[in-house]
Amino acid sequence: MTGNNIFFDLAELKSLGHDSIVGRTVRIRKPKLCSVGHHTILDDFTYVSCGITVGDYTHIGANGVLIGGEAHITIGHFVNIAPGCRLIAASNDFSGGGLVGPTIPPEFAARSIISKITLEDHALLGTNTVILPGVHVPEGVSTGAMTLLTADMKLEPWTLYVGSPARPLRKRDSSQILATAARLRAAEKSKG
Ligand SMILES: CC(C)(COP(=O)(O)OP(=O)(O)OC[C@H]1O[C@@H](n2cnc3c(N)ncnc32)[C@H](O)[C@@H]1OP(=O)(O)O)[C@@H](O)C(=O)NCCC(=O)NCCS
Repeated sequence: MTGNNIFFDLAELKSLGHDSIVGRTVRIRKPKLCSVGHHTILDDFTYVSCGITVGDYTHIGANGVLIGGEAHITIGHFVNIAPGCRLIAASNDFSGGGLVGPTIPPEFAARSIISKITLEDHALLGTNTVILPGVHVPEGVSTGAMTLLTADMKLEPWTLYVGSPARPLRKRDSSQILATAARLRAAEKSKG
């Protein structure tokens, strides 16, 4: 655990692992609902308005936005989220009737779409990737810069996706990545 934060006391987090950094300007609105693993970094100017669980050796780059109302966002181990990505687990319905936004009283507001987002281990998000409510990102999925993922997509593990909407570009080779992660875990364990 390192450093102070200008918005909240890091001790309010549900948990914060060892050797992890939450940048001074990271804004977490509900710290009691947020767990951060070991050897993990949440970089500056990231904004988090919902509960999150973040694994070990994971990086959320600068200017990340994680929004979810009552929904939870779960991010696994060895995940790398490049700067400027937006994970949106809650939204008003932009296609229906009703007024939209946090300034609108509930009885006048469009229906809400609230659905958890999960990123499995070894997911990599290219810069400015956007993930909408209900997306499940399987193990080892990576995205190119400016990719859009929506809940109706059936994403395959260890596949690189690009574009808006996303299309599969090629498979990723998992064997070396998983072996290297296992060696890192073993080295960590032997250090005690
Ligand atoms: C996706 C990516 C890895 C592909 O790199 P590459 O293997 O060199 O791919 P190429 O440049 O050969 O392009 C292959 C095809 O994918 C398309 N493509 C590549 N990147 C794309 C992107 N971000 N969005 C949409 N299409 C993309 C190309 O137009 C090309 O299409 P075509 O086959 O129809 O001509 C790379 O372009 C990318 O976006 N990297 C993310 C970088 C990043 O955000 N890093 C974060 C640093 S912290």
